[in-house]
Amino acid sequence: MPELHFHSAIGVIAVSAPAGTRLIDTVRTLSRDGDLPLAWRCAQGTCGACLIHIEHAGSGGTVMLGGMERNVLVRRGALPKDARREQPDTVATPRLACHVIVLHDLLVYIQK
Ligand code: FES
Repeated sequence: MPELHFHSAIGVIAVSAPAGTRLIDTVRTLSRDGDLPLAWRCAQGTCGACLIHIEHAGSGGTVMLGGMERNVLVRRGALPKDARREQPDTVATPRLACHVIVLHDLLVYIQK
């Protein structure tokens, strides 16, 4: 089961999550329990509240954002209006937890 390390203003928390699940599902549980300061809202991938940055062992290549994720990130101002769906797969690239499927170990950085 992939290991997730969440880095936020209140510290680092490590949990495991079943492969193939959406990252927002783990975020919701941790947030409800008060372990993670991320004020997610819709859990449907449309509001942009679950902005994060992620890093993993395979970081450094490219990642193809879904059209909805790209559009929400642009609307939120996290990506420029002319941003392409293909983005660098690095910690600098904004992501939405609703659109990230957990496939391997991740370092997750929470925005404030
Ligand atoms: S909580 Fe709304 S996009 Fe993730």
